[in-house]
Amino acid sequence: MPAACPQPIEPIERASRDEIAALQTRRLKQTLAHAYANVATTRKKFDAAGVHPDDLKTLDDLARFPFTTKQDLRDNYPYGMFAVPMRDIVRIHASSGTTGKQTVVGYTKNDIDMWAGIMARSLCAAGAGPDDIVQVAHAYGLFTGGFGVHYGAERLGCTVIPMGGGQTAKQVQLIRDFKPTMIVATPSYALNIADEFVRQGIDPASSSLRIGCFGAEPWSEGMRSEIQTRLGIDAMDLYGLSEVIGPGVACECIEAKDGPVIWEDHFYPEIIDPQTGALLPDGETGELVFTSLTKEALPIIRYRTRDLARLLPPTARSFRRMSKVTGRSDDMLIIRGVNVFPGHIEELILKQPQLSGHYLLEVFREGPLDQMEVLAEVKPEFAHASSEVKAGTARDLQHEIKGWLGVTTRVRLLDPGHLPRPEGKAKRVIDKRKP
Ligand code: DLL
Repeated sequence: MPAACPQPIEPIERASRDEIAALQTRRLKQTLAHAYANVATTRKKFDAAGVHPDDLKTLDDLARFPFTTKQDLRDNYPYGMFAVPMRDIVRIHASSGTTGKQTVVGYTKNDIDMWAGIMARSLCAAGAGPDDIVQVAHAYGLFTGGFGVHYGAERLGCTVIPMGGGQTAKQVQLIRDFKPTMIVATPSYALNIADEFVRQGIDPASSSLRIGCFGAEPWSEGMRSEIQTRLGIDAMDLYGLSEVIGPGVACECIEAKDGPVIWEDHFYPEIIDPQTGALLPDGETGELVFTSLTKEALPIIRYRTRDLARLLPPTARSFRRMSKVTGRSDDMLIIRGVNVFPGHIEELILKQPQLSGHYLLEVFREGPLDQMEVLAEVKPEFAHASSEVKAGTARDLQHEIKGWLGVTTRVRLLDPGHLPRPEGKAKRVIDKRKP
């Protein structure tokens, strides 16, 4: 059983569900009123839907209010959804903008303070405390990962190594010299760091690291096992998105390791059917929707994350948990009519003992038919296996994918180091069908 959080946890994390609901209702009323009074787009949307902040009497009433989408933020680029004057904004971040115009988010001094608090709470839940040395391997900049984790780790009293993303050889050097006990990165980058240890002739499991906090991209349970074994650490899931705050919306507790705990005193979660927008009961898979409860600069009402997950009952804390994100609704591939998420394929790749977690899916059209080729790297220790052994592994994987997902794919195994090595979020799909 891994050690629990070394710090005393906040009383609200142990509060009764009634206390939590009362706090949420009070904060929700304030947030709706604040957004309605200060954000023109929100006011217009509420008016068009025929709802007013005073209509919210209980948490269930939230379902009557309209959603906010990424498009709303884009339409109001850059500052149109801020609810406070610019002189009160002390920080700007932005999403990467790979799928269109960047979405810009802003923070007041109180927002930054709240964010540092929930990130500190997240790292504490993940098992860190003031004795830990934390290497931040997320990029610092417009991306929320670097600064978000940095402020939280400092708040918790950890020693912070603000390494930032990339420069993998240097990451390894710093781990060897500065002896961090925790690393925070994307899961795909954690594997790159493990590879770099091997390249330098060192066993990655022999380092000073004991915990890793990973997020910013979907990752499977298979990937968790791979990272834990290779780096010899506990790998914890940290979830968040810039529109809601950044990292720290939810984080796993080390004593349970059963899905990120949502910090429900600051973010109210719902699950909806992504097609109809109808509310789904806890336990069913659908799109995660968040409403901020304490934000000043960018109060966000029913934000559609596009992340598919389930809401789960409380365990280690009084707050509800979320399942691992199974994928993003916009990442779903339709291959000859079958819905496929890259995460499902990842899970099957990592069931093959010879394959590492480095993979890429190429989708293209051959005549009228969709085709998918799975490119997967073998682990360094299997690089010299015979071609028959490798062909057998490729066949096994193809068979598993057909069996579990019902699609026929081609599988091509590559030697270690052949696929691009992302320094932040991994790109798992190249869809050549798109114009
Ligand atoms: O990725 C914030 C973050 C930084 C989270 C560092 C965790 C660690 P965005 O760039 O706005 O913000 O991207 C948010 O990333 O909607 C999910 O699709 C994905 N994502 C984030 N965390 C996880 C996770 C940051 N733990 C988008 N598991 C979200 C799966 C995640 N997907």
